[in-house]
Amino acid sequence: MTEKITARRPLSASAAPRPTARPASPPIAQPDREFVFSPADFERVRALIYKHAGISLSPVKQDMVYSRLARRLRARGDRTFAEYLDRAEREPDEWETFVNSLTTNLTSFFREAHHFDILGERLKKHAGRGPVRIWCSAASTGEEPYSLAITACEAFNTMTPPVQIVATDIDTNVLSTAGKGVYGLDRVDRLSRERMQRFFLKGTGTQAGLARVRPELQRLIEFKRINLLDTHWALQGPFDYMFCRNVMIYFDKPTQHAILKRFVPLLKSDGLLFAGHSESFLHAADIFRSLGRTVYERTDARDR
Ligand SMILES: C[S@@+](CC[C@H](N)C(=O)[O-])C[C@H]1O[C@@H](n2cnc3c(N)ncnc32)[C@H](O)[C@@H]1O
Repeated sequence: MTEKITARRPLSASAAPRPTARPASPPIAQPDREFVFSPADFERVRALIYKHAGISLSPVKQDMVYSRLARRLRARGDRTFAEYLDRAEREPDEWETFVNSLTTNLTSFFREAHHFDILGERLKKHAGRGPVRIWCSAASTGEEPYSLAITACEAFNTMTPPVQIVATDIDTNVLSTAGKGVYGLDRVDRLSRERMQRFFLKGTGTQAGLARVRPELQRLIEFKRINLLDTHWALQGPFDYMFCRNVMIYFDKPTQHAILKRFVPLLKSDGLLFAGHSESFLHAADIFRSLGRTVYERTDARDR
């Protein structure tokens, strides 16, 4: 497993999609707040994270933004949001923390389990056809790529299946957690006893209450930072399968379309793209055709 995790400075304006017109934020009540958080401060945060990560923060996220960034002001000794945001734009390390602070990383093992069933069935038919390559493009804390690795081990009935998984995310914090592969038992309590025994090591002593994925799973995965908005992705295609689940939901439609367009040459013509349960790419039917259950194939795919 290699772990290459570094963040980059913000994109140039031309590389990022243009923000769509948004209604002005309503004034922000400041009940017992340690720092003043003005509408202009929120607009600045919103513009920065949209331009850099494509994330559209709605006005209802103001409290969330305040609480996550107030911690940073405190940690850095800044007295105002303006002072802190100037720092974040100036200092690469703080910029990375700023971005990490504003992502939403909710995930779980075998989330939307039907996708793993579909993948498992397809993998069983791959036998002898060379390594299968999978890109997990919003890997968060690792539960999704490890679920892919488990699916592969089960499909090929070996701990060393011919599968290579590239697991990426914009957030360096979650990638670091993912690389370690250590989870609280509450994160794995819905996995079967059989899966726990085969794919995890339970901690004892000071590690009690923790479960670690077996190193064989880690060896199947390369973790690295990729911002889906960046103009260059350090990735070698093509992939047989792409998982891009529950991240497009944070992007507006033009941003989604631009990213989907760049997925096409990276996905084999008989490959599949898996999306999140509440994501629909019907607006991109010119490039991806729905097969139902939030699974897509290239619209230009040959009939199979
Ligand atoms: C809600 S989690 C989804 C995790 C997983 N795919 C799942 O479905 O369980 C969304 C992830 O997308 C990542 N993300 C947000 N913006 C991104 C971007 N511009 N490029 C890459 N990843 C991004 C976040 O850091 C977060 O880990």
